Amino acid sequence: MPVPVIIDCDPGHDDAVAVMLAAGDPAVELLAITTVAGNQTLEKTTLNARRVCTVAGITGVPVAAGCARPLVRPLTVADDVHGESGLDGPRFPDPAVDIVPEHAVELMHRILAEHPEPVTLVPTGPLTNVALLLTRYPDAAAHIREIVFMGGSTERGNRTPAAEFNVYVDPEAADIVLGSGVPVTMCGLNVTHQALATPEVLARLEALGTELSRICAELLTYFASTYRQLWGFTAPPVHDPVAVARVIDPETVRCVDAHVAVELSGRYTRGATVVDLHGYTGRPVNARVAVALDAARFWDRVIAAVDTLGRRVR
Ligand code: RIB
Ligand code: CA
Repeated sequence: MPVPVIIDCDPGHDDAVAVMLAAGDPAVELLAITTVAGNQTLEKTTLNARRVCTVAGITGVPVAAGCARPLVRPLTVADDVHGESGLDGPRFPDPAVDIVPEHAVELMHRILAEHPEPVTLVPTGPLTNVALLLTRYPDAAAHIREIVFMGGSTERGNRTPAAEFNVYVDPEAADIVLGSGVPVTMCGLNVTHQALATPEVLARLEALGTELSRICAELLTYFASTYRQLWGFTAPPVHDPVAVARVIDPETVRCVDAHVAVELSGRYTRGATVVDLHGYTGRPVNARVAVALDAARFWDRVIAAVDTLGRRVR
């Protein structure tokens, strides 16, 4: 049976691939797409979500805009990585998919209450919407199967030496989610840096020969250019679909149990995820932490999903 999923995202090049994987893989029933400010402003991430749905032929999946700024801090965007539009690279047609009038948090709450079985939330941006859902609607937790988010790291950060971008943007939200008691899986940079869009991956995408695969390859080519320029990567780590892959095929993303704390006040370390992999602190486990990716299996699923959608849209 496909797993019911809501993806909460800030498209974002890798968010776009995560949405395609969630929509194109038969192991997932994509119930909704919600957007949050992060890689770019909410206006831009929401327009980008509509663009992705348009080119991927994702219809009948409600898209709702969420929080325009983090719970406490001012918004930090990643235009250096994702460009001024948040999805620089390919030219997109005018979006043919509109948003629903509900706020993302209201849509999530309604779907959770109405769906016949618990739903998996897959946040791939700052955790603002999800933290607000859990705070505003405590009853929602009982309807959530698990939260599998892309964010944090067991090692260094990518927005500061200590903090990964999604958690850096809204550390208070991440702290709320990790303290919620809902089953949480963290897919951090330590594992997403194993999801490299190598030239071989790009060639496989381009060989699919559909308009969608061409757009996907162009997105990753742009993403590769900024990762090369900023960090010297020879191939970009495509972070967000790793969280979706964990839901689709858990054996693709190996996890260990650990306590994860979020630094909220460190002068140099705000937004760091402090992952107690060896039980030093004696604090109780509050998360599954992804530590290894079967990259071949991962890319097979991503490319198959893009192919499925691309053939359907044609
Ligand atoms: O640190 C990587 C994360 O931040 C990814 O989700 C990327 O899309 C950005 O949101
Ligand atoms: Ca993202």
